Amino acid sequence: MRNFEARPAARVSGAVSVPGDKSISHRSLMLSGIAQGMSEVSGFLASEDCLATMAAMRALGVRIEQRSPTHVMIHGVGLRGLRGAGRALDMGNAGTAMRLFTGLLSAQAFDSQLIGDASLMKRPMERVAKPLREMGADVRTHEGTPPVDIGGCRGLHGIDYRMPVASAQVKSAILLAALFADSATTVVAPAVTRDHSERMLASCGVRLDIEGLRVTLHPPQQLASSRIEVPGDFSSAAFFIVAGLLGASAGGLLIENVGLNPTRTGLLDILRSMGAQIDIVNPREGAEPVADLRVHASPLRGVRVPADLVPLAIDELPVLFIAAACAAGETVVTGAEELRVKESDRIAAMSAGLAALGVAHTVLPDGMRIEGRAEGAAFGGGDIDSHGDHRIAMSFAVASLRASKPLVVRDVANVATSFPGFVDLARSVGLDVRESGS
Ligand code: S3P
Repeated sequence: MRNFEARPAARVSGAVSVPGDKSISHRSLMLSGIAQGMSEVSGFLASEDCLATMAAMRALGVRIEQRSPTHVMIHGVGLRGLRGAGRALDMGNAGTAMRLFTGLLSAQAFDSQLIGDASLMKRPMERVAKPLREMGADVRTHEGTPPVDIGGCRGLHGIDYRMPVASAQVKSAILLAALFADSATTVVAPAVTRDHSERMLASCGVRLDIEGLRVTLHPPQQLASSRIEVPGDFSSAAFFIVAGLLGASAGGLLIENVGLNPTRTGLLDILRSMGAQIDIVNPREGAEPVADLRVHASPLRGVRVPADLVPLAIDELPVLFIAAACAAGETVVTGAEELRVKESDRIAAMSAGLAALGVAHTVLPDGMRIEGRAEGAAFGGGDIDSHGDHRIAMSFAVASLRASKPLVVRDVANVATSFPGFVDLARSVGLDVRESGS
């Protein structure tokens, strides 16, 4: 098993550039694969999750050249050009890949089966299967979880669907299927969720009408090929943002080329309300907004996190809990029950880790109440189980900045699903973390 050994470090400083955005990288392969002609992707995230999507697109007949780990050329086969893989497609740990492929493949004439690793095989899939069945797709789950079996499709119809959960994966799965439907499809979300699919579909020439939480897709004849520049992943930057707040030296920690899509940056709003000083430098607009962030060491105070920011910070809540543990007073997060069905039960995994470090907290069914300790070391040392969850592992590596003794974080191999090179990057700015184990 791979582990992190992290020792208390005094300060972090310098500059980092985090790898490409995971959500955008998955979508770039899928949409370019069914576009007409060659698309070019730069800044691609060559992590295990996105490589699972790449392998699946290849198995479905798309030629993909990886000119470097981050520079990818995709020879699109057109909207009707995918062919059956003839074997189960393995999504590894990638929930996004499995949900989005369920949408894409439910519209194809051939049969497909989607499988994944032990964590993914436990994750809920009916949330995508149900609306797709309403469209006329033949999608079967096994008591709600994978394998997902998809029967060859004889045609889909447009639907008007109100999503019960605020999920970009569900929305995107429906929009992918809707490309192939005989009429327009409308999806209404209960809250704002990330809009990378809508932005990329629009760049491929697809007509979308967007009004608040309502998205209507009009099925196109074809998708145009495109040039996609993938910005750095805000969710990966989040670990360095919190590290900078806890321990940046004078001048701050610079995080370059970070995607700042407003449907992703709830963590910035939450941290600023806690007293964080984070400067947005050199902002630029393309298909996605991008900027550099300069993060200054900041005394933090506990807050009650507003419910509408929770879906906009859902993947960053584990590392927010670490910031909260180092803030003066109490932080309360509620309305985050989705954390229970991520790569691990993130409420339970964070609770166990915080308990190992001696942080007083109360577990709520849909969140957590954390008693911060702003003065001196917030944590002791300890032995923490990441539950094979990349974001739990990296959150506790950041916690080492305020620990009084070394930490061991167990079962960290899955950091490679989203953030290859995390340890080297963390070390380059001064975190004292190394990876060990067989
Ligand atoms: C993602 C959506 C979110 C997020 C996940 C990536 C996406 O999941 O947690 O890491 O790329 O669409 P939900 O749609 O389940 O909220």
